[in-house]
Amino acid sequence: MNKVRILGIETSCDETSISIVEKTSDGSVNILSNIVRSQLDIHRDFGGVVPELAARAHSEIIDKICHLAMKKAKIKFDDLNAIAATAGPGLLGGLIVGTVFAKTMASALKLPFIAINHLEGHALSVQLENQIAYPYLLLLVSGGHTEFTIVKKFNSYKRIGTTLDDALGEAFDKTARLLKLGYPGGPQIEKCATNGNPDKYQFPMPLIHEKNCNFSFSGLKSSVAQLVLNKKITEKFKCDVSASFQRTIAEILIKKTQKAVDIFNDMKKKQNTVNIVVAGGVAANKYLRGSLKSLEKKSNIQFFFPSLQLCTDNGAMIAYAGIERYEKSLFNKLNFKPRPRWPLDKKAVFMKGKR
Ligand code: KG4
Ligand code: ZN
Repeated sequence: MNKVRILGIETSCDETSISIVEKTSDGSVNILSNIVRSQLDIHRDFGGVVPELAARAHSEIIDKICHLAMKKAKIKFDDLNAIAATAGPGLLGGLIVGTVFAKTMASALKLPFIAINHLEGHALSVQLENQIAYPYLLLLVSGGHTEFTIVKKFNSYKRIGTTLDDALGEAFDKTARLLKLGYPGGPQIEKCATNGNPDKYQFPMPLIHEKNCNFSFSGLKSSVAQLVLNKKITEKFKCDVSASFQRTIAEILIKKTQKAVDIFNDMKKKQNTVNIVVAGGVAANKYLRGSLKSLEKKSNIQFFFPSLQLCTDNGAMIAYAGIERYEKSLFNKLNFKPRPRWPLDKKAVFMKGKR
């Protein structure tokens, strides 16, 4: 097989990103370019992503990002094999911008168009840097999703646990808002926590004693809200709450990961080492990465984390998922409609609000 080069487009939330990823005949994967433009400045004053503004910002910049990605990759349009774009889940306006741009390129260049599930992008993102054999356990922790999914093989996913209310990134963002730490909350809490006492406050850990690996984070956020009501918000207070919040999340993730590993082992015939990939924006948190890693000493498991810039939304993971689909000729028609809701495991039951 010759080289495969895919252009991947990501516009599902508040990052406009285009990347070109190449796979060579010996199987090595190279990111030729990965341009990411965050819309933080646009949404900061609102304390969260405003869908209409996000879509407009994607449409204003996407052609420039494409130009930069091509220039950095030092290739010509003729060198591309297909155009891939996130087609869901995510904010509809942004998905429309990205998919229409991709379809137009594909049509003009007479190349296949590939619609990518954003969650598949996160699930496979680790393969950009490490070739990990299937099956592996995925802990996806992002702004919109928090789930344990078994990646049985490419395009075959079984979700074994999920959040019943807020996603973990959402819990970070909401807690940061309560502490007036700014947006996006995750990185701010991580920064503030380094100066705080992780044992200062005790927060609830919902569902922690249940035998499944489902999550619930809304009670945690409410508990922070209660605390904030009765306290003067000083710098010290912000840091102590951030550190205690982060420590609580680490404990929840550790407990639930152990349960997920048990479930995964029960489903496998052989009890060999379990590879766990932690992906999505929250996986960029170094404290959580370190806490999870400590589990390796006690159990027969090995963690893989994508490098920080590949945890948060990026076009490279979309281009990589595009390569996997291209190799199997899994192309989409140009009338493919974006899907704001699109579970990775098609059989998974919608669980939000099931508490
Ligand atoms: O994967 P992502 O970029 O977008 C979605 O697909 O949702 O994840 C964004 C989420 C946000 O909620 C953000 O606060 C969180 O990831 N996040 C973090 C960190 N960096 C980003 N949360 C905790 N610690 C971080 N360092
Ligand atoms: Zn994401």
